[in-house]
Amino acid sequence: MAEAKHLLSVQDLSEKELLAILEKSEEFKSNLGKKKRCEPLYGKSLAMLFTKPSTRTRVSFETAMTQLGGHAIYLDQHRSQLERGETIEDTGKTISRYVDVIVARFHEHEKIEKLARNSRVPVINGLTDLLHPCQAISDLFTIREKKGRLEGIKLAYVGDGNNVCNSLLLSCSKAGINISVANPKGYEPDAVIIKNAEEKAKEKGTELEIITEPNKAVLEADVIYTDVIVSMGQKGREQRLKDFQEYQVNVELMEKAKKDVIFMHCLPAHRGEEVSAEVIDGPHSVVFDQAENRLHVQKAILEEVM
Ligand code: CP
Ligand code: NVA
Repeated sequence: MAEAKHLLSVQDLSEKELLAILEKSEEFKSNLGKKKRCEPLYGKSLAMLFTKPSTRTRVSFETAMTQLGGHAIYLDQHRSQLERGETIEDTGKTISRYVDVIVARFHEHEKIEKLARNSRVPVINGLTDLLHPCQAISDLFTIREKKGRLEGIKLAYVGDGNNVCNSLLLSCSKAGINISVANPKGYEPDAVIIKNAEEKAKEKGTELEIITEPNKAVLEADVIYTDVIVSMGQKGREQRLKDFQEYQVNVELMEKAKKDVIFMHCLPAHRGEEVSAEVIDGPHSVVFDQAENRLHVQKAILEEVM
């Protein structure tokens, strides 16, 4: 089987490739709406295999394909044979004989790895329980756009050590961003990912800390980031809400960071849970520019892997 370039984790990209994606994204963003036709993916097809809901990832990838001259096909577990028990292996072997690239969203990370092993074409991770690389790459683009640089920036992540947090650890450490993560005990990021990110941070000479105090994490922060308390498919909502009571990003917490701090959230958000409405709808919030940038960055990611 021919070797395809998969993007399952930020770790699949070299620093050079990561920067090239950011540059390319900028080009796509500034060319949007210009008359000149640019259809590098003319005649190409993308299959999107999603077993969890999505608004941003789905719409941005589908729109990216259309704007680049290609076509996207959306399949969920109900409209494919996955629900009737067709294996990931057979699905990957079959779909990759039709299309040129696949974006998949699964619960278990092992499933996307299995899909990639059985695909002739690149597989892009559109989120698993472990990682959300397209989000974290796009977030670097947004930070650079808002702050003018990446190196030396401090990002404070307050909340659950989930897929988004894991991928931010990998993307920030690779990009020279200092990252401080505050989670309640028992909700830390993945241990292997922390180790990898720590090694990268050491190599880059940046700071990385995993602590329990939000007040400490946000000191001198340029960016405050949070995500939902209950991710898709997670159980025990009541207990989680209790455990995260001290972890809401609100005005009081924002005031402890730098004056020009920006607030980021991958969305969807739950106002009154992980973030107050005042913050997410307030002057420091960049969440809709952040969401828009998914479109420009997906285009660059598609071009990079194809
Ligand atoms: N941020 C993000 O991935 O959103 P969706 O779940 O709507 O795709
Ligand atoms: N952590 C969230 C991210 C959604 C984009 C989830 O997995 O539901």
